[in-house]
Amino acid sequence: MRFYLYALLGGLLSFQLSIVHAGQAALAMPDSYSAEAVEKVLRSGGNAVDAAVAGGFVLAVTYPEAGNLGGGGFMTLFMQEQNRSAAQAYFLDYRETAPGSASRDMYLDGKGEVIPFASLVGAKASGVPGTVMGLWQAHRRFGKLSWKQLLQPAIDLAQNGFIVDPALQEHSLWYQSWVADKSDEELNFDHYFGNLQSGERFRQPELAQTLRRIAESGADDFYRGRTAELIVQSMRARNGLIDSKDLAGYQVKWRQPIRFDWNGYQVISAPPPSSGGIALGQLLQMYSILKPQYLKAQETARRNLQDLVALKTHFFAEMEKRVYADRAEYLGDSDFVAVPVKSLLSSAYLQKRAAEVNLQKISDSEAVKPGLAESPETTHFSIVDSDGNAVSNTYTLNMPFGNGVVIEGGGFLMNDEMDDFSTKPGVANVFGVTGGHANEIVPGKRMLSSMSPTLVLDGERVKAVVGTPGGSSIITSVFQVLVNSLDSAVTKEMDGEMSAQQAVDALRVHHQLWPKDRIDYHPELSPQTEAALKAKGYKLRLNNYLGDVQFLLRKDDEWQAASDYRGRGQAKVFTLPAKVQTEN
Ligand code: GLY
Repeated sequence: MRFYLYALLGGLLSFQLSIVHAGQAALAMPDSYSAEAVEKVLRSGGNAVDAAVAGGFVLAVTYPEAGNLGGGGFMTLFMQEQNRSAAQAYFLDYRETAPGSASRDMYLDGKGEVIPFASLVGAKASGVPGTVMGLWQAHRRFGKLSWKQLLQPAIDLAQNGFIVDPALQEHSLWYQSWVADKSDEELNFDHYFGNLQSGERFRQPELAQTLRRIAESGADDFYRGRTAELIVQSMRARNGLIDSKDLAGYQVKWRQPIRFDWNGYQVISAPPPSSGGIALGQLLQMYSILKPQYLKAQETARRNLQDLVALKTHFFAEMEKRVYADRAEYLGDSDFVAVPVKSLLSSAYLQKRAAEVNLQKISDSEAVKPGLAESPETTHFSIVDSDGNAVSNTYTLNMPFGNGVVIEGGGFLMNDEMDDFSTKPGVANVFGVTGGHANEIVPGKRMLSSMSPTLVLDGERVKAVVGTPGGSSIITSVFQVLVNSLDSAVTKEMDGEMSAQQAVDALRVHHQLWPKDRIDYHPELSPQTEAALKAKGYKLRLNNYLGDVQFLLRKDDEWQAASDYRGRGQAKVFTLPAKVQTEN
């Protein structure tokens, strides 16, 4: 809402003053350092993209499990571009690409078998990183504050250090023991990150230097300058594949996001090379198709004193089976393979798929075919500025701390994203998901992802911003948080609405077709539900880590912000003072 005050001094003042009303901004960030940096940027007049750039670089310092310079990701945006009257949705793909000398069978031995961990550990596991170019291009298109100013918090934290969180120390100890027997290559992870002590200050002077160069020269430093040289040197010394041509040729892609209607809202999410938006669209739309049947089954179960959470978990698993079968068969980088996006999201197809769901018993996994003719780490953040612009950003190194290789002289970890390609048809990757021809390795191609940075629009305004890490469970986590917060069936179940925090903290479960009939669950699952699911024929696996959701939800005109209690995130809503703008 704007109030216009006209200058009274006639000929002396020919401009109009407009006072923009105070507005709420909100953030949900995976740690307190990035939350602080984002709040500062928003308070100093930066928009959601400025805040995302500052937060993204801070996380590369304080959240080395997944925050990164050496990885890649996706950003879903709702922004008002200069010279455009209204905000609209955009999608930025800064996913890593396969190096020019990569080949389809590069992770197979002479007998055609997958070489264990070759696509996960060591220099050969890295794709060409996209993060620095992604943040650079987002800033060029939408940024208001200076690039240098936005990098300063990250530079300070790398130079002066930050206090190590207990979870970070724990993750680094876990990674050191996990990676120890996975490769013959001498990794340098321990040298850089082997001594993280909870509660102690941790400084990264090499990384500070790299960030200073990027602040000075932009993405050019990383892709063509001194940092590019350091990456290539490190790759040469370790038989890695990335060369200077790969770096100089790296490009981000502005893509059309996946859009679909659900429950009166428009959902905006990640298109290929992510499977996230399509899978989320299939789940939410099948959920709506099957809801009347599900509510009937719920009534019967209630009357018969059966476990309602077990019923819901089974219902979700039945839909998820079909979604992950399609993912394995059809999805890959749409610049290289034809992905039947429209067919996979068409209502006729989803009606047919929904009709296969059996609410009473488990469908046979072998019979679920494609339907047309961790502690896995990644990190997500959600930001809304006081003008209503929003950024939903998920980026990753793949495994926690990526491939275990730090670029010497650069001080940053490299990704092991090559494992997200299908190294051999039908052989599962680290997340247990398989793929085939659509996701095989080709130079320059982007590997299939599950990252699902998502926005929900209510008319012309953002209603929710959501995303999470968690590998293949990203899709089902985003699905459950949206159903928890935006579906009336849940409201009824709860005798009221879930707050953003309740929607995030609630029990989550996950099924992905294979392993057969296995449900991963959070510790909140009750013993009674566990028994009911086992009696149905499911095998249960406790999984403490089904994501670290960062969620913003608007109820009427008030934002709610929630960071998953399972992570070390920080969420906040604050009101910015009214802005005074002058207009001619
Ligand atoms: N590396 C995890 C994903 O992209 O889904």
